[in-house]
Amino acid sequence: MSVTIHTPEEIESMRVACRLASEVLDYIEPYVQPGVTTEELDRLCHDYQVNVQRTIPAPLNYAPPGYKPYPKSICSSVNHVVCHGVPGPRALKKGDIVNLDITVINDGFHGDTSRMFVVGKEGSKQAERLCSITFECLWLGISKVRPGARLGDIGHAIQQHAETNGFSVVREFCGHGIGRKFHEDPQVLHYGKPGTGLEIREGMIFTIEPMINAGRAAVSELPDGWTIVTRDRSLSAQWEHTVLVTPTGHEVLTLSAGCPPPPAWMNSGSGAT
Ligand code: MF3
Ligand code: CO
Ligand code: CO
Repeated sequence: MSVTIHTPEEIESMRVACRLASEVLDYIEPYVQPGVTTEELDRLCHDYQVNVQRTIPAPLNYAPPGYKPYPKSICSSVNHVVCHGVPGPRALKKGDIVNLDITVINDGFHGDTSRMFVVGKEGSKQAERLCSITFECLWLGISKVRPGARLGDIGHAIQQHAETNGFSVVREFCGHGIGRKFHEDPQVLHYGKPGTGLEIREGMIFTIEPMINAGRAAVSELPDGWTIVTRDRSLSAQWEHTVLVTPTGHEVLTLSAGCPPPPAWMNSGSGAT
């Protein structure tokens, strides 16, 4: 496994790409309303990226080994869809939960981030709790990132919080190194044991993107070759940030004016920095 250690110049380019990815989510948020189709959200994001930002939507025609080219510019994963939901003619309705996952390419560098949205601002108690526990899982994972820590520290923090709250962690998909390439080493698992796995080093950049299910962890792929659903059709949530390892801890690169602030405990102890 060869993990990229980024130069200061590359890090500066990644800061820009990652902020732009987060700004696409800021832009689309007001459109996530009952009645909108995920296809419309895809077109709006596509046009904003291409015509306003002048960024390239990385998912469009992305074809990792064993996959056919991805047909759209964003992933939109509704309710029991875990990830890689392909935008289509289905309209969102009040109470749906939807993950929108944006990856931009700017100046050759990738920024990757996703958020959950509750359609019509109000969902079931369970849906709301799943979204907020998953958000906390993401930030608990981020809080472990510093030189000398290990990837298993991140996975363990996420798994423990999800399972303590009666939820389960998807095993088949993970966070990833990112930079000039969309997906590269290392794989960042969302479960694991403290003190195990690759040692984290200054200059690494990777995503943390836990997928947490309300029911069992098992998933299935739909016949479109992309969409991943929970096998038991229970709800699933996901949040994603791209994170740089700094000399003393971490810098979350996919921040912007409209993104939800970290939980209050991030800046007040609890293993952060
Ligand atoms: N953005 C996803 C991730 O977080 C990957 C999507 S691949 C696609 O890694 F082709 F479906 F877009
Ligand atoms: Co990612
Ligand atoms: Co993503």
